Amino acid sequence: MEFRFSDNLKNMKPSEIRELLKYASNKNLISFGGGMPNPLTFPMAELKGIMDDVMDNYGALALQYGNTGGMNELKTEIKRLVNETEKIASSESEILVTSGSQQGLYELAKIFVNPGDVIITEEPTYVGAISAFDANKAEMHSIPMDSNGIRTDLVEEEVRKLVAAGRKPKFIYTIPTFQNPTGITMSLDRRKHLIEISQEYQIPLVEDNPYGELRYSGQRIPAMKSLDRDVIYLGTFSKIMCPGLRMGFTIGPEAFIGKVNLLKQALDLSSSTFSQFVAWQYLARNMVSKQIPKTVELYRKKRDIMLKALEEEFPEGSSWSRPDGGMFLWATVDSRINTTDLLPEAIQAGVAYVSGNAFSPARMQGSSMRLNFTFSEDDQIREGIRRLGTLISKKMEILETQ
Ligand SMILES: Cc1ncc(COP(=O)(O)O)c(C=O)c1O
Repeated sequence: MEFRFSDNLKNMKPSEIRELLKYASNKNLISFGGGMPNPLTFPMAELKGIMDDVMDNYGALALQYGNTGGMNELKTEIKRLVNETEKIASSESEILVTSGSQQGLYELAKIFVNPGDVIITEEPTYVGAISAFDANKAEMHSIPMDSNGIRTDLVEEEVRKLVAAGRKPKFIYTIPTFQNPTGITMSLDRRKHLIEISQEYQIPLVEDNPYGELRYSGQRIPAMKSLDRDVIYLGTFSKIMCPGLRMGFTIGPEAFIGKVNLLKQALDLSSSTFSQFVAWQYLARNMVSKQIPKTVELYRKKRDIMLKALEEEFPEGSSWSRPDGGMFLWATVDSRINTTDLLPEAIQAGVAYVSGNAFSPARMQGSSMRLNFTFSEDDQIREGIRRLGTLISKKMEILETQ
């Protein structure tokens, strides 16, 4: 059969690490590549209890089709959750339940973007957001970050230029807290500045916050959504419950949520009703407040082990972020080393990461890599960083002799 595919997915590329790992024969491979929560954090017994109760008490409803925007009882609990954790004020009519926040990202792009429209992102940014934006043919203008988050002075400059050229961006997308991939948290001043830009130029601001509850050190910084009710907020149960039930939510002004609702009717009619009942009971029974401290304790220890290992094993001239939370840190090595080229050798040496350019709309992160510290066992973290440090040092020695 000759398939004549649409142009829509032309920009999309397969994940480089997934492709390489398909062929990796090394059984001792230590992977810092994935973005998966550690299964030790999954509240297995509690979820099993909830699932039994849901089947016993609500089976006929939980196995049935549901409202497109999500069940009301769950929205009420989400409203309570974001108010308690992030001081976000919302009403049920501003909340829409999604099949993970990944679906929220796709819906966002589908609703706002005509092919070739400009959007603003951080540089680097979440690879899944790049996929969702690419699939909708957005033109990403990515703005560099420093240790205080996205450079809002540069955002303002770029927005001004684009507006003058008649190409006003459709939205600004940020992951302000424990960013994926860098682990960096945006300062309060920058958050306020970004809100000012959004208001002045009337460009929607999108805050993606999957990691906000995973804080291991430092002071909480207010969510942008708590400072400005117009912000579109993407949340998820993936890191506070588990990712497998695919539960997320979008909170935004009603005019926007109404459009998402229409689109979702075409996408999947509704997110899984069964998962919604489970998520509802998980929140109603206050499981989050029991689960989070355990997760934080486990991940804090792993973050510290990786930071110490980097200190001991990575050669001079390397640098890395010291995240206060989340699941990743971002390491940058000697600028003569390209981490995409290095990856096959790293896998050969028994360690994997995701190379910087996978997260880079501008392809300018050639010497960086994202390292996940939440998944591997403690000893594997030490050993994996040792393998990586040795490989990078060897590369540098070779470069010195050339
Ligand atoms: C920044 C960011 N946004 C969205 C997602 C998607 O998460 P989910 O679809 O599981 O809610 C992730 C997952 O890693 C992420 O890191």
